Amino acid sequence: METVLKIKDLKVAYPGGFGKEKTVLDALSLEIAKGEISGLLGPNGAGKTTLIKSILGLINIKRGSIELFGKPRLSSKAKSRLGYMPEVANYYWFMTAGEILNIFGTLAGMNKAELKNKIEETLALVGLSGQRNQLVKTFSKGMQVRLNIAQAILHDPEFLILDEPFSGLDPLGRIDIRNILKKKKDEGKTIFLSSHELSEAELICDNMCIMRAGKILKQGPIKKLLDEKGEHSLENYFVKIITE
Ligand SMILES: Nc1ncnc2c1ncn2[C@@H]1O[C@H](COP(=O)(O)OP(=O)(O)OP(=O)(O)O)[C@@H](O)[C@H]1O
Ligand SMILES: [Mg+2]
Repeated sequence: METVLKIKDLKVAYPGGFGKEKTVLDALSLEIAKGEISGLLGPNGAGKTTLIKSILGLINIKRGSIELFGKPRLSSKAKSRLGYMPEVANYYWFMTAGEILNIFGTLAGMNKAELKNKIEETLALVGLSGQRNQLVKTFSKGMQVRLNIAQAILHDPEFLILDEPFSGLDPLGRIDIRNILKKKKDEGKTIFLSSHELSEAELICDNMCIMRAGKILKQGPIKKLLDEKGEHSLENYFVKIITE
């Protein structure tokens, strides 16, 4: 098994005021295998977004190590192989979807000719093909989520990290995103996504990681976890683990 992400004994704390600090992630270890879809579940405030930002090098860590593709998380080589969809994205409202993707593609090192086709192709994939020249300020919530996913997959990264990719989407939108993620998996990509949509996560994920208050309570293949507790649905399993 090839490992794309390896986290050992991670501790992350935010400043808590008056020189104090608030520990948000503690003694957290996790491995993500190449070519699989892994879900990160946990109640509001569990630390999912903090964990994702730590992996991306957006937050300093107090203890432990995070390796991407066998290299320290901050190496630019490792970062260029990543695609990231943030939980909240505020794109320049005065730009069009095409212009936004042009900026992200250029930052990812894509050239003009490559970008021209790739932007069209990616917008079609996320269901925004007619919206290339539409201003982002006129986008509905669901359209913004689709654009947010588009910028994450535009440069065809090997490892996708998505913070709540199903939030704000209508049922058809969820199916679209599910199909995109399945396609990415079939292409051999690795996906790590946080979600509150347990039924979506159950449909698409191979592995699950359940967090509460900065700690991982359970991780492993979904079927194995459910079997251990004699549960048939992820929702029931989740409630059991979180409340026990
Ligand atoms: N910038 C910050 N400064 C101080 N505390 C923070 C900061 N960001 C997050 N926290 C705290 O860290 C904890 C974890 O927050 P985080 O956003 O990682 O949770 P989450 O699991 O992503 O929640 P949600 O499901 O609501 O998105 C919470 O207690 C939150 O208040
Ligand atoms: Mg979050």
